[in-house]
Amino acid sequence: MAIQKTHQKVKLSKPRSPIFVLTASLACIAVLYLVSSLLSTPRSIRNLVTDPKNRHSLHEKYLYWGNRIDCPGKHCDSCEGLGHQESSLRCALEEALFLGRTFVMPSRMCINPIHNKKGILHQSGDMVSEERWAASSCAMASLYDLDLMSNTVPVILDNSKMWHHVLTTSMKLGSRGIAHVQGVSRADLKEKSLYSNLLLINRTASPLSWFMECKDRNNRSSIMLPYSFLPSMAAKKLRDAAEKIMALLGDYDAIHVRRGDKLKTRKDRFGVERSLHPHLDRDTRPEFILCRIAKWVPAGRTLFIASNERTPGFFSPLAVRYKLAYSSNYSSLLDPLVENNYQLFMVERLIMMGAKTFIRTFKEDETDLSLTDDPKKNTKIWHIPVYTKDGEDC
Ligand SMILES: *[C@@H]1O[C@H](CO)[C@@H](O)[C@H](O)[C@H]1NC(C)=O
Ligand SMILES: *[C@@H]1O[C@H](CO)[C@@H](O)[C@H](O)[C@H]1NC(C)=O
Ligand SMILES: *[C@@H]1O[C@H](CO)[C@@H](O)[C@H](O)[C@H]1NC(C)=O
Repeated sequence: MAIQKTHQKVKLSKPRSPIFVLTASLACIAVLYLVSSLLSTPRSIRNLVTDPKNRHSLHEKYLYWGNRIDCPGKHCDSCEGLGHQESSLRCALEEALFLGRTFVMPSRMCINPIHNKKGILHQSGDMVSEERWAASSCAMASLYDLDLMSNTVPVILDNSKMWHHVLTTSMKLGSRGIAHVQGVSRADLKEKSLYSNLLLINRTASPLSWFMECKDRNNRSSIMLPYSFLPSMAAKKLRDAAEKIMALLGDYDAIHVRRGDKLKTRKDRFGVERSLHPHLDRDTRPEFILCRIAKWVPAGRTLFIASNERTPGFFSPLAVRYKLAYSSNYSSLLDPLVENNYQLFMVERLIMMGAKTFIRTFKEDETDLSLTDDPKKNTKIWHIPVYTKDGEDC
């Protein structure tokens, strides 16, 4: 990289024909490129790069955002659900794509306690923060297929040998190897040679949540990954399980019924219950679902239901019209491989993606079918929940 800089200053002393200048410059650029790519990558890394097992590391520059995707509060001991964390991860992956760098992924993902029925919650004070983290997190590689992901965005884990090499090398190179940046724009990281030539960019993302860095997502020119990107990158054993279940289901439709966390209410100063989604509790009850989906799902169809509702038999009334199926129908297949609710949800998500007709709880796109018309976005307005019918009959 240093070589590149000094050579760029070399000027041709005598005026020459434009063709010669052009050819000479092109040749010069080609040689410089070759030399810099050989010299800027130290031998240890070059060996890793040429090893076919490390094909993703062919991209020789790295982007690091920290070792926690999501770290609200002072101590990072809680986190948001999978969807939120994926939104953050996607934001970071988009930046890596934009910069043409390999993304250094946190090797673990925090599991929100309310989403981890299998995890043991240690509330006792004698556990140090790191132990608590280990107990309430899972390996990133148990959720995602990193090789598959690397076909689109090259990634390595922050507990890998490769990362160790990158780190030691960047430290040896000093200010030419690594920059710790905060508040530098994506465009500057890409265009300014101060950053673009570095082996490693250590970027401090928003301490609240990584996805804050993509708040302007709807209005920017950089590469965007679709919502479906991370769901479809599920670990191989999860994809295999989903495929088996889909084969057993045959021709089916699916609904995702979000109750649980989303039904949260609180009392206002007059003691009246209020909710952020005033129609959600009503719209996600079986009698209302039957009414709402009648126009989309004909009687007699197999209906796969994914929900965080924990009341046994809650959706049974739907059986008057449909053949119901849940992931619990396939527990003999799932129990041996699913360790937490994030993995379970990833399987369910693939099954829902494979349905002939899929109905979400909230509309996310114009073309989505949804159980409720309440917006998903947190409007911060607390309404009195509505349980009466709107009038339209089914
Ligand atoms: C990245 O930068 C942050 C903030 O400057 C620092 O605390 C952290 O140790 C750095 N990490 C690496 C791997 O260099
Ligand atoms: C979107 O970006 C363009 C170009 O940068 C800018 O002119 C426009 O004001 C932005 N719109 C919004 C809603 O932020
Ligand atoms: C799934 O299990 C429920 C009982 O929990 C049963 O009523 C239903 O028929 C099963 N569905 C399939 C597709 O096997």
